Amino acid sequence: MDLKIAVLPGDGIGPEISAQGVAVMTAVCEKFGHKVSYEYAICGADAIDKVGDPFPEETFKICMDADAVLFSAVGDPKFDNDPTAKVRPEQGLLAMRKKLGLFANIRPVETFDCLIHKSPLKDELVRGADFICIRELTGGMYFGEKYQDDNKAYDTNAYTRPEVERILEVAYQYALRRKKHLTVVDKANVLASSRLWRQVAKEVAAKYPEVETDYMFVDNAAMRMIQDPKFFDVMVTENTFGDILTDEGSCITGSMGLLPSASTGEHTPVFEPIHGSWPQAKGQNIANPLAQILSVAMLFEYFNLTEEGKLIRKAVNASLDANVRTPEIQVAGGEKYGTKEVGEWIVDYIKNA
Ligand code: IPM
Ligand code: MN
Repeated sequence: MDLKIAVLPGDGIGPEISAQGVAVMTAVCEKFGHKVSYEYAICGADAIDKVGDPFPEETFKICMDADAVLFSAVGDPKFDNDPTAKVRPEQGLLAMRKKLGLFANIRPVETFDCLIHKSPLKDELVRGADFICIRELTGGMYFGEKYQDDNKAYDTNAYTRPEVERILEVAYQYALRRKKHLTVVDKANVLASSRLWRQVAKEVAAKYPEVETDYMFVDNAAMRMIQDPKFFDVMVTENTFGDILTDEGSCITGSMGLLPSASTGEHTPVFEPIHGSWPQAKGQNIANPLAQILSVAMLFEYFNLTEEGKLIRKAVNASLDANVRTPEIQVAGGEKYGTKEVGEWIVDYIKNA
């Protein structure tokens, strides 16, 4: 297969993990005889500094022209600490999602046996936990009407029926391929937008009688994820709730640096770690590249290149078992590996497989 990849390294640790993602992608393509080419593009704070726009038109064109986007991270403290900033790096990520029509964000929450102890939760609770959060990505408060002055501010949590229908359809497709258990997460006891979600969900559920559908308020879901993460198989929820719950999900896995995601919809799909740009770690070679590398696995799987995805997952598991780990998941007294060394080990493993 010929693959044209747009690479958006972005800010903070982005360029470091991006380099490892690209190296793994190249190694897998060589191994399986795929032709791959990369087109680099700027976004986030880097693009604001260079051209004043966190998602420049040129970057959008490169994304539209590609088969897939390998995205890393955006964000910079100089904007976080300035609530008056007119343009923010995160707007670049949101513009990319919106302009590419990426309404479905697939966020798997899995556990690695050798990292169970890294979860703050009890071993028996997290061992074997394995679910997917399907996060709606182009609607809700992120994109609804906003207002801000010195005395008042609001964000509107708007959803339309077609927006809810299409994300539920995606969620049912995933549920059908898994344990056929879908949990619709909302706040229908308080929010009108959630009541529309629940109404539409009940209608769509009727089309999938083979799937067990349950409805859960988001506060309860946040608790259940900690109390009994194995309850979940597929979870579907709106943009903001999905953002929050998937950070919580990383505590089941043990590190934010382990969770990949795929954002799919109308145009070029984007593969991105769920974590942010971790600016404090920039240039230190300590960021975990696995979320990015596992995003590459999701990229191959999206194109039905399952053996390629499988090999990456095998290599990642082998690296963890061999204690080739970045500091945040390293065992006490273990050897220290950096972003680059973990990536190189995985590339070698793939080459020799
Ligand atoms: C994520 C991130 C983004 C989000 C930020 C960086 C805008 O937290 O992908 O989860 O809130 O969607
Ligand atoms: Mn987030």
